[in-house]
Amino acid sequence: MTRAITSRLSKFYERSPEARLVVLREMGAVDDASFAHLARGGSLDVTVADRMSENVIATHALPLGVGLNFVINGRDILVPMAVEEPSVVAAASNAARMVRASGGFFGEADPPIMTAQIQLDDVPEPTAACERILEARSRLCALGDASIPRMVARGGGVRDLDARVLDEALGVIVLHVHVDVGDCMGANTVDTVAEAMAPTVHEIAGGTMGLRILTNLPLRRLVRVRAEVRDEDVGGAELADGIARASRFAELDVFRAVTHNKGFMNGLDAAAIALGQDFRAIEAGAHAFAAHRGQYRPLSTWKRKPGGLVGEAELPLAVGTAGGLSSAHPGVRAALDMLGASNAGELAVALASVGLASNLAALRALAGEGIQRGHMRLHERKNNVQVTDPPPALNGSRSEVGR
Ligand code: MEV
Repeated sequence: MTRAITSRLSKFYERSPEARLVVLREMGAVDDASFAHLARGGSLDVTVADRMSENVIATHALPLGVGLNFVINGRDILVPMAVEEPSVVAAASNAARMVRASGGFFGEADPPIMTAQIQLDDVPEPTAACERILEARSRLCALGDASIPRMVARGGGVRDLDARVLDEALGVIVLHVHVDVGDCMGANTVDTVAEAMAPTVHEIAGGTMGLRILTNLPLRRLVRVRAEVRDEDVGGAELADGIARASRFAELDVFRAVTHNKGFMNGLDAAAIALGQDFRAIEAGAHAFAAHRGQYRPLSTWKRKPGGLVGEAELPLAVGTAGGLSSAHPGVRAALDMLGASNAGELAVALASVGLASNLAALRALAGEGIQRGHMRLHERKNNVQVTDPPPALNGSRSEVGR
């Protein structure tokens, strides 16, 4: 299948869901198997669902849309987004169109290092115990690697350790184990490593064994994205000023920062869900990161530059293109195919870019006409869909997607 992807699909919103799918297939954004799966409505077979979770009685569906206009690191990207909130897909697509005129989003991800914690309590002389643990670094790393041979064969494995005293008097220490998890999200991998290392760590340090589990704040797995937008593309210098002031408001006030971040996560989560990622881990990591310097901060900022704005975002993203649902769930396979990320780092950059687009769209609306007008227009359409209706026929209905 040849892929000739453009994410600038004018009037995509005017087509029927079936016709939109045909456009995607013709571009090579989905292969025949994915096309067939999505054309059937994209639902998960209950027998497959039954193997994934417990007490399964059915599956639970969300609308799956496509975020348009994204150019990320010079490449046109179609972003699958699963979300029930009207305007999230439209808003991200609109902001991506504005950014596209200035070259799109640029980003980079750290190597895929996940971190596990091993906790010990009642450790005698905790500082000396931490030193002994670090002296045994190579023995401990080898033990960890031996527990994940397939990951090591693929080029991953334990990379580093560090140990800290959390409470001298109570003898509480924690060992951090940093593991390269390749293109996986990596939770199972680092948990396996932590459990394999823990008995030896215990032997070295003494005390009482505590937890052995990943941290959802993987500070060595950050992603950074950046975008510029010109005044004329956001609706003029006054609106651009308003966006910058809205961003500064979030830097000054936690009550605003959390809502700013919610708007950022609107698009990111929608894409993460469509792409089968652990969105609970992503959310936990994002908000912990927002607060980890002592004050809860915005994940992204928009600042004035001559004639435009510069947007920047940074957050940890534990995401994977391998493992998890990537092979078990045909809808996730289709979504990953459509996005075309060749590794976990590219996926992280794409997700953060969608977050930055959502954030720009929200600030622009808030700095201008307010959120309610556009939002309510799209809400009305939702309210017109009756619970007893057949699958929503959106044919011909107008949204702002792709304009
Ligand atoms: C609504 O889902 C998201 C916003 O509240 C985000 C924001 O205020 O920046 C509009």
